[in-house]
Amino acid sequence: VITVTRIAELRQFLAGVRADGGRIGLVPTMGSLHDGHLALCDAARRHSDVVVLSIFVNPLQFAAGEDLDRYPRDLAADTALAAGRGVGVLFAPAVDEIYPTGTTAVTVMAPALAGRLCGAYRPGHFDGVLTVVAKLFNIVMPHVALFGQKDLQQATLIRRMAADLDFPVAVRIEPIVREHDGLAMSSRNVYLTSDERVSALSLSRALRAAQDAFAAGERSPAVLTATVRAILERQSGVSVQYVELVDVDTLESPARAAVGHAVAIAVHVGSTRLIDNHLLY
Ligand code: PAF
Repeated sequence: VITVTRIAELRQFLAGVRADGGRIGLVPTMGSLHDGHLALCDAARRHSDVVVLSIFVNPLQFAAGEDLDRYPRDLAADTALAAGRGVGVLFAPAVDEIYPTGTTAVTVMAPALAGRLCGAYRPGHFDGVLTVVAKLFNIVMPHVALFGQKDLQQATLIRRMAADLDFPVAVRIEPIVREHDGLAMSSRNVYLTSDERVSALSLSRALRAAQDAFAAGERSPAVLTATVRAILERQSGVSVQYVELVDVDTLESPARAAVGHAVAIAVHVGSTRLIDNHLLY
């Protein structure tokens, strides 16, 4: 794996790949890589010849008081993991390479979709995500870009951005990767104490209960979300932000639950905010 920190250098390298007819796959991350990210790298390799993994903790998507400063960073460990999964280029720019003037006067916004679910609790977050992803698409010009299903709203917004703004990139959303006990992988799991780690298992347990109820014939979004909420609220140390059943394309709540709809949850476990979701089948 080669590590590149400059946009110009990356563009030059990738121009060579394209000139040779190579397909480029992009896996955008904020580093602190776990098996979820590595599964994205594996999928990227299946769909491209050269995988670019970007590592950039994007200040634009953190609100004041969020965890920008303490977000886990370990470039040496990430480099070793990326190399082991066939990543060709690790793009790890500094903040002033991406935002030379400190910020950006033009941003990408999706008010209707970004205001729901997590967006209601993290104002400006998705403008920051869409803006940096649009920049990465323009810097890398990938044939395919891969994102995780765990960030359900982010996945919807990026799919819609690529479609609505005609980015010539195929956006692929890959399944959630879980720890053996069901906890969805997240770089933020390192914040959890051992007690909180146990409490956090209630998220996947609650989602399983929703799936079981759906499989048994329950179709009421209110009943399904109440089932999830009851399990979360019974768990000490967990405080629920939202539980919603949504259509993954519109992020709106359907009148009746159906296969492919998502049950999405956000909670705080102690001071750590965790999200998880499940696509009903
Ligand atoms: O999912 C993430 O890690 C980030 O939101 C992303 C897509 C890399 C944009 O900064």
